[in-house]
Amino acid sequence: MLQYRLSPSVLAADFARLGEEAMTVERAGAQYLHLDVMDGLFAPSLSIGIPVIRSLRKVSGLVFDVHLMIEDPDRYLSAFADAGADILTVHAEACRHLDRTIEAIHTLGKKAGIALNPATPLEELRWVAAKADMILLMTVNPGFGGQKYIPYSTEKIRELRSWMNQRGLETDIEVDGGISAANIDEVTKAGANVIVAGSAVFRGNAAENVKELQRHLSLAAERGMQ
Ligand code: DX5
Ligand code: ZN
Repeated sequence: MLQYRLSPSVLAADFARLGEEAMTVERAGAQYLHLDVMDGLFAPSLSIGIPVIRSLRKVSGLVFDVHLMIEDPDRYLSAFADAGADILTVHAEACRHLDRTIEAIHTLGKKAGIALNPATPLEELRWVAAKADMILLMTVNPGFGGQKYIPYSTEKIRELRSWMNQRGLETDIEVDGGISAANIDEVTKAGANVIVAGSAVFRGNAAENVKELQRHLSLAAERGMQ
């Protein structure tokens, strides 16, 4: 059975109160915390890195869902594992030897995710999907919070879920970018079960926003049981 999970992205949080924001979403019922790492090369922006994740680890019991939007992530896998990551997601486009990278994450005792940019075909996953614990489909282009969901993503999610079903794989599908209460049902119906939300959580009342998004996820879980 697929587990539905909400992964608030701290990119949209108030960085002056990061610890508190993380605690707020945990108390409100989120299960994961999405941590976007950008290097200014793979993603056209810079964000947080190892020391911030290490500090947050001290105040949070959430599953740390670390999204590495960096070139050649192999260089930093053990540092992120050490800082407290639970899931390490790398971009297929940023890895020269993706299979080896997935193995390296597993050797560190962490869950491995593979991310695809909107324009990257699902074909990239053909041989390695079965090795991953999660596939992250970007539903905006990497770099910034608050962008608009790219409509063709829904068909891509649907195709990936049905491709996995045909192979007996029950891998998590995470979606990231432009998700809110207005389209969360659309992506879960298409087959996504781990939902990243930045602005939709941290703009306004974060606790209320988490509860509202979780309500949608409970309904998705009920639908799944029917
Ligand atoms: C974009 C990041 C996202 C971002 C999502 O490069 O990977 O995780 O924080 O933000 P929203 O939910 O505001 O689109
Ligand atoms: Zn992300």
